[in-house]
Amino acid sequence: MSERERTDLTDPTWWRDAVVYQVYPRSFADGNADGIGDFAGLIDRIPYLERLGIDAVWLSPFYPSALADGGYDVDDYRDVDPRIGSLPTFDDLVAAAHAAGIRVIVDIVPNHSSDRHEWFRAALAAAPGSAERDRYVFRDGLGEHGELPPSDWVSHFGGSAWTRVPDGQWYLHLFAPEQPDWNWENDEVREDFHVTLRFWADRGVDGFRVDVAHGLAKDLGEPLRSHPHVNSMDIEIDGTNPLFDRDDVHEIYRGWRRVFDEYDPPRTAVAEAWVPTSRRVLYAKPDELGQAFEFDLVKAEWDAAQFREVIVDSLDRARTAGASSTWTFSNHDVVRHASRFGLPARTDLNAWLLTDGAEPAEDVALGARRARAAVLLLLALPGSAYVYQGEELGLREVADLARDDLEDPIWLRSQHTEKGRDGCRVPLPWTTDGSSFGFGGDGAHLPQPGWFAEHAVEAQDGTEGSMLELYRAALALRHRLLPDQDLVWRDSGPDVLHFERPGGWHVVVNLGSTPAPLPAGEVLLASAPLADGLLPGDASAWIRGSDPVTG
Ligand code: NOJ
Ligand code: CA
Repeated sequence: MSERERTDLTDPTWWRDAVVYQVYPRSFADGNADGIGDFAGLIDRIPYLERLGIDAVWLSPFYPSALADGGYDVDDYRDVDPRIGSLPTFDDLVAAAHAAGIRVIVDIVPNHSSDRHEWFRAALAAAPGSAERDRYVFRDGLGEHGELPPSDWVSHFGGSAWTRVPDGQWYLHLFAPEQPDWNWENDEVREDFHVTLRFWADRGVDGFRVDVAHGLAKDLGEPLRSHPHVNSMDIEIDGTNPLFDRDDVHEIYRGWRRVFDEYDPPRTAVAEAWVPTSRRVLYAKPDELGQAFEFDLVKAEWDAAQFREVIVDSLDRARTAGASSTWTFSNHDVVRHASRFGLPARTDLNAWLLTDGAEPAEDVALGARRARAAVLLLLALPGSAYVYQGEELGLREVADLARDDLEDPIWLRSQHTEKGRDGCRVPLPWTTDGSSFGFGGDGAHLPQPGWFAEHAVEAQDGTEGSMLELYRAALALRHRLLPDQDLVWRDSGPDVLHFERPGGWHVVVNLGSTPAPLPAGEVLLASAPLADGLLPGDASAWIRGSDPVTG
């Protein structure tokens, strides 16, 4: 019997230390060779995920969508985009994943729908002031003829957050115009999301990732309060901001928790909330979503002091919330970390993308070394870990996508001042040749560069020292060695992190360039060969210590 066959799918605490693999469905594997990843392709690759050793998959949106924002513009929350599959193929996917001991998390997008959602179409067809319009945020404009937007609110993707409709009213969209914001003061909206959560939970979904969890509740009292900027990390922390992280949003999640708890085991959730760290804990409370993403490792530079501070603070927050921490280096919204860590500290990533990755030059070998070291940190920390598809292949950002190929609305909406997020969403390479490197068909929806060949699964499978084999080895060891949520810090040099997990298991990460001594014991895994028993710079090791545990 494999490890996976022993997975207990009824365990209500599974999420606390789960390794969750993020699938961006349109870019994972294409089963019918039309250039777009789909459930058939994903089902075929379940054995790959099982062999990798992850505990759950999180599926970015697969719902019917015009793809104005990569599927985060949802036409129908209770269906599958026909290009990706159907409800029966979704059921097949859940069954195949569960049979392999892999749980399934789906993405819920509650701040906004798409402009093709049935209720938005009804709102447009109905008159100002109607019940249909009340499900969204419609307002008359300012100015003599209502020709000015109702407030100074701005969209995340650039420009005003208001778009005018033919009868003269304006609707709110904190993201693209194709993503109208729901009015969460409307009871029908609240109830409909409960219906959606139950719809997927009834189909066997184990958990939910909640998009823009700090949005939803807004202060819509007249006159609308000024808020002319978008950075939700930089807002007042008393819960009174008109648009983000309002105290009232938590009541919504307490309602969702009651829905999750109707199931056995209770369904889980993780908040995507880009808010000041002190507030993140609120979303993770057990009577709300249960977990909140920690994005601090995404933002941190390759620096021991920064990493240590992030780890200490995040663990502290998780403890306060009664949750467990969530660690991640990459996702579909950020430059891949194999590239980030190969660029000089404090590189402006947006400016770098605009040079197509030419300036400053990326140190590819350094980024790869650090990405190897990073995964041994990620998977050694107490709590759950999120792995973004392709990082196990050591993929870097595809920084030189041609302007004409870009799909991200950021490119257009920023008036071509930001290239956006497509460079981390390029379809995966499975084989070393073929026109789409085994992704499927003749072409992928975003073009893959030639260097993807050396990162293909085929090139790394069974290859000693490959990134894929490092991830597999680390995940296999983690299953054996991580019984609980504690770590104890050990003394180390300023560029080195050294902590011990129960069972005498030491984790040493050398973020400097001087080789560092290791504690006595058996080296279970190292991201780079040791030199004279020392851990080289930009490397990590897991050691089973020979001294008894003291922590
Ligand atoms: C966060 C998602 O991760 C991102 O991809 C999306 O553009 C926004 N939310 C809007 O839904
Ligand atoms: Ca397809």
